[in-house]
Amino acid sequence: MSKPRAFISRRIPQPAIDLIAAACDYGIWDDWMAAPRDVFLREAAQSDGVLVMPSEQINEEFLDAAPRVKIVANMAVGYDNIDVPALTRRGVLATNTPDVLTETTADIAWALLMAAARRVVEGHKTIEAGQWGAWHPFYMLGQDVYGATLGIVGAGRIGAAVARRAKAFNMRVLYHNRRRAPHLEVALGAEYRAFDDLLRESDFVVMTAPLTDETRGLFGAREFALMKDTAVFVNVARGGVVKEADLVEALKRGRPWAAGLDVFEVEPTPKDNPLFELPNFVGTPHIGSATLRTRTAMAMLAAQNLVNVLTGKPPLTPINALPNRV
Ligand code: DGY
Repeated sequence: MSKPRAFISRRIPQPAIDLIAAACDYGIWDDWMAAPRDVFLREAAQSDGVLVMPSEQINEEFLDAAPRVKIVANMAVGYDNIDVPALTRRGVLATNTPDVLTETTADIAWALLMAAARRVVEGHKTIEAGQWGAWHPFYMLGQDVYGATLGIVGAGRIGAAVARRAKAFNMRVLYHNRRRAPHLEVALGAEYRAFDDLLRESDFVVMTAPLTDETRGLFGAREFALMKDTAVFVNVARGGVVKEADLVEALKRGRPWAAGLDVFEVEPTPKDNPLFELPNFVGTPHIGSATLRTRTAMAMLAAQNLVNVLTGKPPLTPINALPNRV
């Protein structure tokens, strides 16, 4: 019996390729950058399953082009690139990679939080430019993190991991989520707040919730105006949750006081994005899960999901369920 065919949309860690190769014939776009859309669709058309990145839009166009595909294994926890209802209607499974990247992504939220609060990048650039002024009591003052109030938007795995770290900084933790999260309240003493109240009360606002119809453009002029003029805003979720033009104006006015983003409305964000002209802004290029150990774990989980489905087993971390599937 011939093996199923898989397509891997980007270069991924070798152990994950080996796992797929043991069970499938496969093709790979062996490059750091995404394949052109037509190449991707052509490869998908000849495949029973695909392992993809968030840059691949998995929509009706994809489903029309790839009628054989039974499984789309996303190598990411976020899956706003996938039209899940459309896949379910057509009997295609989708999977993501939760858990394995939680701690690594919480680390980048904290890296941005600390860097923005204590002006780490601004300080570095100042020295680099030969502009280190004389020490004086008011030189490059930042915001205290220890003992401050952290407001987390989204009480999923990453939000909880960000909150856990806050305990070591003796912080009061507030959270906002669609549903109350007893695990955060009991284990970490986190307090639920309505969204606007969280924005008003927090010294640090960290966005960890996924991009959905509800969260698209959630942070705009109104929300920034509610924050303290000493607040630091951090986004490690998806760029689409922030209206970047509004953030630029808000940072110019100093409310919030500073911001750190790992994700942008357009990625890669252009070099002339006005955020990068602001001293109170810190940006990283969507590297929330970017350590070799975590990326390998993500690739292995995505590969295992793909292989499981293509060999008749249930996926480990499904996003959708197919009613007629046994
Ligand atoms: C995810 O998993 O959703 C990340 O954003 C990819 O690094």
